[in-house]
Amino acid sequence: MQRIAVVTGASSGIGEATAHTLTKRGWRCVLVARREDRLRALASEIGGEIELCDVGDRAAVEALAARVLERHPVVHLLVNNAGMPARGTFLKADLDLIEHVMRVNYLGGVWCTRALMPGLEAAAPAGGAHIVNVVSVAGTVSFAPAGAYAASKHAQLAFSRSLGAALRDSGIQVHSILPGFVETEGFPQKQVLRSRLLRHFVIESGDVADTIVRAIEKGKSESIVPWFPYRLVGIAQAVAPGLVARFTGMSAHRGESV
Ligand SMILES: NC(=O)c1ccc[n+]([C@@H]2O[C@H](COP(=O)([O-])OP(=O)(O)OC[C@H]3O[C@@H](n4cnc5c(N)ncnc54)[C@H](OP(=O)(O)O)[C@@H]3O)[C@@H](O)[C@H]2O)c1
Repeated sequence: MQRIAVVTGASSGIGEATAHTLTKRGWRCVLVARREDRLRALASEIGGEIELCDVGDRAAVEALAARVLERHPVVHLLVNNAGMPARGTFLKADLDLIEHVMRVNYLGGVWCTRALMPGLEAAAPAGGAHIVNVVSVAGTVSFAPAGAYAASKHAQLAFSRSLGAALRDSGIQVHSILPGFVETEGFPQKQVLRSRLLRHFVIESGDVADTIVRAIEKGKSESIVPWFPYRLVGIAQAVAPGLVARFTGMSAHRGESV
């Protein structure tokens, strides 16, 4: 029987790369996003199925899950990857944007998980199931120039970790993936790529897709990609929060576009 993966945010970037990598490893992917043309092109390339859905709309997510579960009562993998940027400090960012990014980046994953849980539970006794949450290093460091984005990723990481604890020994494993800078359509890294130092730490979507597959196959609960220097940044936030705040606060004064 072919294993079924539901991948949200599959129309570009990390989600698209993950769908490619999973398909090469024998998974059948249900590709979820809003842009139909992009999903159709990918589905015809890799032989997947498409589902149009705004994950920031709870009723739409419940309808999506009902359609998927009707076709696939057993779902072996859910990749909560759909996400959006939200630039600006908490002083200047639009209040609608602050609300919207929480719905898409954090609640979208919560809703997808709850709605698809019957399919994941059905897979648990026979070989197990997996939930992957594509979080960010921004889930561990509060970067002032993208305050609402960092807050949504902190919430998503807390969701992912507490879900993992709640599902312990259930046959459903939860994996948190924390990428650093990744060059994608939604998150172009022009400014970072201009820095002689920072450009060495920009990775590609395929690197994150490989990390996701490794996490599933090796049962890793948390993966930072790349490990260096981002693990050190997380440690600095934990042991010297004042220093990190001073540094990220200085960045906020340098410009809103960071
Ligand atoms: N790139 C980075 O530097 C980076 C670093 C750390 C973490 N991440 C995380 O990685 C994930 C993927 O981002 P990416 O870099 O691959 O960016 P991307 O290329 O812009 O991809 C974002 C995907 O999410 C989908 N999406 C956005 N809003 C949606 C909504 N309301 N409903 C359904 N789908 C939605 C988009 O599809 P449609 O527009 O077609 O709906 C697209 O497929 C995000 O969660 C992001 O926070 C990215």
